[in-house]
Amino acid sequence: MKAMKFSAFGGLDSLRRVDLPCPQPCSGEVLVEVAALSVNPVDWKLRTGALRWLGPLRFSAIPCFDFAGHVVTAKVGPFQTGDRVFGLCRLGQDGAARAALLARPGPLLAATPANVSDDEAAGVPLAGMTALQALNTPRPLMSGERVMIVGASGGVGHYAVQIAKALGGMVTAVCSTPNIDWVGTLGADRVLDYFRGDVDRPVPEFDRVFDAVSLGSFERWRRWLKPEGAYVTLLPRGDVLLQRLTLPCCARQQARSIFLKPEAGELERLAGWMAAGRLRTVIDRVFPFDELLPALQKSRAGHARGKIVVRVAPET
Ligand SMILES: NC(=O)c1ccc[n+]([C@@H]2O[C@H](COP(=O)([O-])OP(=O)(O)OC[C@H]3O[C@@H](n4cnc5c(N)ncnc54)[C@H](OP(=O)(O)O)[C@@H]3O)[C@@H](O)[C@H]2O)c1
Repeated sequence: MKAMKFSAFGGLDSLRRVDLPCPQPCSGEVLVEVAALSVNPVDWKLRTGALRWLGPLRFSAIPCFDFAGHVVTAKVGPFQTGDRVFGLCRLGQDGAARAALLARPGPLLAATPANVSDDEAAGVPLAGMTALQALNTPRPLMSGERVMIVGASGGVGHYAVQIAKALGGMVTAVCSTPNIDWVGTLGADRVLDYFRGDVDRPVPEFDRVFDAVSLGSFERWRRWLKPEGAYVTLLPRGDVLLQRLTLPCCARQQARSIFLKPEAGELERLAGWMAAGRLRTVIDRVFPFDELLPALQKSRAGHARGKIVVRVAPET
């Protein structure tokens, strides 16, 4: 079967197409033929060493986490041959950039809703689950809460806008000028343009700020928070850590950095919103399988509009 594999650590240029034996499922596994995958910043960060500070991680030579496809062989329920599924490969194991992979029922695999294409489903797992967990940190988002989402045009951010609305939030999305119009169609109550300085005049009106870009400081965004508001970001940062260490008792505002920890039921919850038309994937571009490298480079450039998808199997 075809696959994409890195032969060296350090850059992205050693990515090559290779032929590998098709994996054989054991008891408890399903064999999935991959129709599409999506690219996340972690896919190139792991390879380029941008995540070195995390410590000794096992790097898979086959990149990418998110996939969608159908079950070819099922050695375990509830999935059956022919079922459409979407999911996430485990960190440290071979990734999704291959024609077929083995998966296990659990928090990393779910049924794809009938009204959702493989390209759309492939976008969701990592970014969608991250958005859901961020919006439930440090406590579950309550209906009526006022939420600011920074980076609303990115993979995580565009799901976060829709999920926050589905949870009953009042959503203010922050993005750059070229993205204002389409981000507005995601259901945000208000869209602020960081290019034009809309975010430079803070008003402390938010219960939470979800910073999906993580380039600003807590000090910058806390001025938008109510006295008991919470700031959540996706990269561990010194200012967030210090805030937690130095002000645990008296500070009523909170700051958290989170890492995705997939939990049972989350993919199904996202699938339910997709089936109901409340969560959709905006696709920046679909690349053919042989163009995984340009897809990774596009992600690395940092201005994806929604998700970058790579089609692995020809569209049926
Ligand atoms: N902790 C975790 O578990 C976890 C999980 C998923 C992702 N992440 C991290 O979260 C970040 C976002 O992930 P993603 O998948 O959403 O990435 P993405 O799809 O590449 O989106 C990046 C977004 O950042 C915005 N942006 C770029 N430069 C900016 C700037 N200077 N100021 C404001 N916005 C800027 C872009 O919008 P414009 O084009 O409008 O500038 C774009 O919307 C990445 O660093 C990723 O590694 C962490």
